[in-house]
Amino acid sequence: MDNIYITNVLSSTHVRENFDCKKELLNGYIHRQASQDVKRRISACFVLADDDKIIKGYYTLSSSSIPRDQLPLEIIKKLPGSYMDLPVTLLGRLALDKNSFGKGLGELLLLDALKRSYDVSVHNVASMAIIVDPIDGEAIRFYEKYGFILIPDSGKMFLTMNTIAKLFD
Ligand SMILES: CC(C)(COP(=O)(O)OP(=O)(O)OC[C@H]1O[C@@H](n2cnc3c(N)ncnc32)[C@H](O)[C@@H]1OP(=O)(O)O)[C@@H](O)C(=O)NCCC(=O)NCCS
Repeated sequence: MDNIYITNVLSSTHVRENFDCKKELLNGYIHRQASQDVKRRISACFVLADDDKIIKGYYTLSSSSIPRDQLPLEIIKKLPGSYMDLPVTLLGRLALDKNSFGKGLGELLLLDALKRSYDVSVHNVASMAIIVDPIDGEAIRFYEKYGFILIPDSGKMFLTMNTIAKLFD
């Protein structure tokens, strides 16, 4: 199934030491923590790597939920009142090596994450939106380009799976 994506599941053979996206938190995560989180089943990590298995980009996905009152009214009003928390997919981190900036790979990496999340939501575990936790203002502007909407007071952003479906159906 992986061959329809540009990324693969992170494995011990991937070379991560020199990955640098200019954001220390996101560098440290792939250098030191990603494999641990995968082992603990806290997140799944997908990497874009070259022929030598050197990581050029990565993202993480996890199951999550969002309280209904954090969603905009036009979405809430279509949901049965009994659902207090709604199932979502957390795109926790997404980063590209600085040597690959500005060539369209960030967009491809994001689309790959949206496609994986969408496929899972259709065929395996339902999810009504993708939530992101942007690391700073630059990241907010990047996600806004793709239609992500800020959730007031949370710092998070979301894009509904129905919107994502229009990209892939
Ligand atoms: C954000 C990131 C993934 C973008 O990757 P990239 O390959 O340089 O981006 P692309 O070349 O695919 O650009 C896609 C579009 O996003 C825009 N864009 C890229 N970086 C942006 C930024 N930081 N802020 C706003 N828009 C941005 C580009 O201008 C382009 O739009 P255009 O086609 O209208 O010109 C990359 O800069 C990165 O990894 N940054 C460090 C980690 C990070 O901030 N991650 C964000 C999630 S926490």
